[in-house]
Amino acid sequence: MQNNKKGYLISFEGIDGSGKSTLIINLKKYFEKNLKNKFIYTREPGGTKEAEIIRNVLLDAKNDISYENKTEILLLLASRYEHYTKLIKPALKEGKIVICDRFIDSTIAYQCNNNDSLKQFFLNVSSFLIKNFTPDLTILLDIKAEQALARIKKRNKNNRYDKRKLDFYKKVRQEYLAQEKKFSRISLVDASKNADLISKQVIEIILNKIS
Ligand code: TYD
Repeated sequence: MQNNKKGYLISFEGIDGSGKSTLIINLKKYFEKNLKNKFIYTREPGGTKEAEIIRNVLLDAKNDISYENKTEILLLLASRYEHYTKLIKPALKEGKIVICDRFIDSTIAYQCNNNDSLKQFFLNVSSFLIKNFTPDLTILLDIKAEQALARIKKRNKNNRYDKRKLDFYKKVRQEYLAQEKKFSRISLVDASKNADLISKQVIEIILNKIS
């Protein structure tokens, strides 16, 4: 484990519409019955008061807002640094299991996808802030972009990120799959399956990791 920490950071990743939120609700129910005080649930961008303010800046749905790529990465990293320093690091020191809805793989997949120079920029700045810190386990919910987009269309959300198109999500998915090939901490889960089956599978993966 990194940084002499005693707990675990478990991140959840996947393109929008992969069923991540439903899965996390199911996991909460399970872990609230079992091991209640050991778990903390959090999300990115956000997770602390300060980081949630940056989240609102990022997700603002105004039509005329479009940040430079590097600005967007810096905002995400600013939010992550607040979150990591104030919430994640202390919780891990206390031995908690931190369940985090999105973390570094989102930034690589969404902001850096297919662009090596952006990836380098992200990794360099990130290493100044959180060194080589990575989750202990990452659950990647994988689903075809077409299927995910059909699910998103049924929801009535409308933040800046919800306006993206099929091609964008196809690229994000490919980048996630490339990450999964590189890092053994990432566990691939077929998100097209039934929600109960997925929850059972993921609970097993988590229990395996923390036992
Ligand atoms: P949210 O409504 O929470 O979506 P979801 O339930 O799918 O997680 O919005 C989070 C959005 O932020 C999501 O579209 C992905 C995006 N995001 C990035 O683009 N880069 C990042 O580094 C992070 C953490 C999130």
